[in-house]
Amino acid sequence: MCGIVGSIGKNNGRDFIIEGLKTLDYRGYDSAGIAFLKEKEIKIYKDAGSVSHVNSLIPNKENGNVLIGHTRWATHGKPNMINSHPHLSFNKQFALVHNGVIENFVELKNKLISKGITFNSDTDSEVVVNLIASIYIDTNDVLEAIKRAIKEIKGSYAIGLIHLGEDKLYVLKNASPLLIGLGEGYNMIASDASPMIEETSKFLELGDEEYGYITSKEAIIYTRDGKHIHKDYVTKEAEMIRHDKNGYDHFMLKEIEEIPTVIKRLFDFYTKDNEYHFNKSLISKIKKSDHIIFLGCGTSYHASLVGGRYFEEMLEIPTASYIASEWAFHPMFPGKKPFIIFISQSGETADLIHCMKIVKERHLDTLIITNTKGSTLERGCDYSLILHAGVEVSVASTKAYAAQVALLLLIVAAVKGDINIAKEMIASLPIISHIKDNYKDKIKEIANEIKDKKSIFYLGRGYDYYLSLEASLKLKEISYIHSEAIAGGELKHGPIALIEDGTPVIVFITDKVTAASMRGNIEEVKSRGASVYVISTKNLSRDSDKIIIEEYPSYLSSIIVSTVAFYLAYYVSLFKGYDVDKPRNLAKSVTVE
Ligand code: G6P
Repeated sequence: MCGIVGSIGKNNGRDFIIEGLKTLDYRGYDSAGIAFLKEKEIKIYKDAGSVSHVNSLIPNKENGNVLIGHTRWATHGKPNMINSHPHLSFNKQFALVHNGVIENFVELKNKLISKGITFNSDTDSEVVVNLIASIYIDTNDVLEAIKRAIKEIKGSYAIGLIHLGEDKLYVLKNASPLLIGLGEGYNMIASDASPMIEETSKFLELGDEEYGYITSKEAIIYTRDGKHIHKDYVTKEAEMIRHDKNGYDHFMLKEIEEIPTVIKRLFDFYTKDNEYHFNKSLISKIKKSDHIIFLGCGTSYHASLVGGRYFEEMLEIPTASYIASEWAFHPMFPGKKPFIIFISQSGETADLIHCMKIVKERHLDTLIITNTKGSTLERGCDYSLILHAGVEVSVASTKAYAAQVALLLLIVAAVKGDINIAKEMIASLPIISHIKDNYKDKIKEIANEIKDKKSIFYLGRGYDYYLSLEASLKLKEISYIHSEAIAGGELKHGPIALIEDGTPVIVFITDKVTAASMRGNIEEVKSRGASVYVISTKNLSRDSDKIIIEEYPSYLSSIIVSTVAFYLAYYVSLFKGYDVDKPRNLAKSVTVE
């Protein structure tokens, strides 16, 4: 995974790299490092821990003309100082930062070891810097060494490389994103535009297996076969790239409380004068399809389950929702005319990019629902719809999930041609504000009661089951408590064996079709000693329920009641003293398979 950033010729390059790494730490934050190209040596500062921690290790005066930096999410080797990037070559002539996974690194490493080359780290990345350095001994030409290395390396990589004695920043890329930012008298590289957007709006996008270098004045790019290519720059605007807590203690809380605004913004964007405002050809393609295939990961997969239900219930179009990493190894294309919908907040999730390549080989129509304009998936799909949720900084997704569900609902409502659905959604938003203003204390009470438990269960059926899945994921992500979501009917097929005295079971009852069955489930777990917390809607409520929510159309549960689940996860994590926005072992955008 990881984020990379580099600069050449930039005044105060060090500050640029440090701030850039902080911007990119959504890609991983277990270690960080910077290399400064000096006249006689490459100086590296790196360690496990945050970017600020690494910055504190660097002497105040340290700076340079050519710098590369890295923020890591460990794939190969523990997060420690040695495995942190940049990696120095065996002869200390080259240093590299890498995002991606080198699939044949063991084979390459063994080959290099047999030539007498020694390694320090457990990473796949160190293999690349040593491979290039060893080829360079023969070629005496860095570009030629990179070209040959590309032919040997299998896997994904976005790499920034520096070489002692040359005022150049070399780049190479395959299946991981890398952008060059063009400044005035200086140039930059980064995994995405955000670290560079204050400096320039002009970018060069590196293609797969392309390589080259930047100096302070120019950017030179070659294809895999060494053909020099001219690239036109693309422009990107600074829209929505601000990371600001707005007075909140955590981004997660701020982002939960932005949900009503985000949904209203979606409504304003996708409706006009009482009509839906979507690309007509997209709507017609969906109408003509006989099956919708959803692909997503994590929270986005959970949103796809809700979306699938919308298509089936409101349009009678059958759907299949797949976890992208599963589907990629066993691609299924139900129906004669399937339409593919990718859902990805970041638009950069590697498993989905893999799926997109498979779908493209079949020439099927594709839509991406994403929060990130210009992302790899957004550029690669036939149609794209933007979530307009604003940057989501907290690793645990909240407002992006609500926006995904809301946008799926709007798409389905547009195909159906029923503007009332959109209006009902907007009319229900005050209920979310009501939850915020009136239920936080009750949610905190529950959080206090469950925070020290080892295992927690969420129960629901239908929409409430999808909600349970998301609620459970959120809780485990940031509180590190084992939690599971169980479809009410499945309880007796195994999970009930885990219920014992005091096991917390959180139950959602917002759907009248399944409410009676859920009450039955509650009795079953209570009689085994469970501590039950029911979250219900008014008409289906009982006095003993912990949280009772005003009435709304039940298909909106995932948007409205999810906020209760998000607050609960937030307060459990907060009360346990964890880093809510940056939970251990996770990253915001998973750019490795
Ligand atoms: C990571 C994030 C999750 C997210 C998932 C899919 O695991 O921590 O919040 O749901 O990736 O990401 P995507 O960007 O494709 O929605």
